[in-house]
Amino acid sequence: RTDRTFTMLKPDAVEKGHIGAILDKINASGFRIVALKLTHMTTQDAKAFYEVHSERPFYGELVEYMTRGPIVAAILEKENAVDDFRTLIGATNPADAAEGTIRKLYAASIGENAVHGSDSDENAAIESAFHFAGREMF
Ligand code: CMP
Repeated sequence: RTDRTFTMLKPDAVEKGHIGAILDKINASGFRIVALKLTHMTTQDAKAFYEVHSERPFYGELVEYMTRGPIVAAILEKENAVDDFRTLIGATNPADAAEGTIRKLYAASIGENAVHGSDSDENAAIESAFHFAGREMF
């Protein structure tokens, strides 16, 4: 099987009506969507998902942001999926993101940065299982 990564189109991207454009760019970049849904994280969900950042000063703000509206969760398949997707989305801070990357095009700030991409194969599997049941992954 080829590699998989997990992504979320965050509340700012959904609010601004960018779901279609971002998914189109993901497909055009060679990723196959193998799971997809619109969902709204609870505070408990967001705290757990971002547990690794719980000691950071922006944790509270991050949980507020990620729960303020629906997100799109998806699992993407491609050779070298984790690294290639992180290249496609660009740097965490859109001010540092390369031309043509999703964050350069659609992110407002380092906090509201439009899209998530897993940082390792292991986290991709953990994050996918957090959001999807087995029968929702194809
Ligand atoms: P991501 O890298 O997908 O996961 C952690 C998130 O925390 C990051 O996206 C941003 O949304 C947020 N984040 C990271 N750094 C900061 C920061 N300095 N201030 C506010 N939010 C941040």
